[in-house]
Amino acid sequence: MIYVTGDTHGSIDIRKLLDNEVTDQMTEKDTLIICGDFGLVWNWKKEVHDEKKWLKWLDRRPWTTVFADGNHECFPRLYSYPVKEWNGGRVHVIRPKVLHLMRGEIFNIEGSSIFVMGGASSHDRGPVKGNTDAVIGRGWWPEELPSEEEMANGLRNLEAHGNKVDYIITHCLPTTYQDIVKRGEFKPDSITDYLEEIQKTVSYRHWYSGHYHVNIDVGENITVVFSRIIQIGDAISESATILGSPKYRKQDAVLIEYEGEQLLGTVKDVMPWGTILKHDEPYYDIELFDTGRKKPVVTVRETQVIEKSLIK
Ligand SMILES: [Fe+2]
Repeated sequence: MIYVTGDTHGSIDIRKLLDNEVTDQMTEKDTLIICGDFGLVWNWKKEVHDEKKWLKWLDRRPWTTVFADGNHECFPRLYSYPVKEWNGGRVHVIRPKVLHLMRGEIFNIEGSSIFVMGGASSHDRGPVKGNTDAVIGRGWWPEELPSEEEMANGLRNLEAHGNKVDYIITHCLPTTYQDIVKRGEFKPDSITDYLEEIQKTVSYRHWYSGHYHVNIDVGENITVVFSRIIQIGDAISESATILGSPKYRKQDAVLIEYEGEQLLGTVKDVMPWGTILKHDEPYYDIELFDTGRKKPVVTVRETQVIEKSLIK
């Protein structure tokens, strides 16, 4: 099976793969896709101790780990690893079972065609923060945005596939969807505009991105993933309920099923491990939008949450 997760940021956010109900069940037949900001090729000179340690750990897992690049990668080093053909597309081989999915390539994994286009603008350093010179090659690289050739490679490959793939994996979103998630805080750039065109011209079953550090279904078949590990084809709302790994966060607006009614509300409190009495799945305290109700705040189990609402 194929699983998808969000940014690992080197050793910072990779622990989501440890002692996890999903990864614990994964076998050598499985593939884990990370939607950019892999971060274990990060030091600007060489593989350092921490990178070696985690790459070795990943290489020894039963499954194969593959990743799109994000913006937090050391691109000159990433591009220096050997290139090989893997499942119909080109990859950089970081370790035998840790592969970088190159930009604009289409892979065929377990019968599904998957288009991959990494890259994004950094919003914590570099030109967006106005400190380009000081950080070039030191935690920020201009190659974070795909080159014209890489983008053209993507368009050529898509055209050769009749502009139809099963899945799309990127680090950032098309401009329109980025605006929905960031409410205008992140400005459009060459890659979000390029993905906007692809979104309009390519047919796909589901699109997954990382970058925004949230787990959220932005559209019917567009999902941003961060901490969760979901099966490809699933939206966050359809993915398995996992004790200790809640799908929703404080302040999320949600549609819930409560005593036979569908109600809208805001998550006021998250209980990842359940309540004192019930610890079979995450629970939430929901403040209902309908203020006229007897109980303004209700406690529900995660399976009672129908979906996250983008309306607040
Ligand atoms: Fe990130």
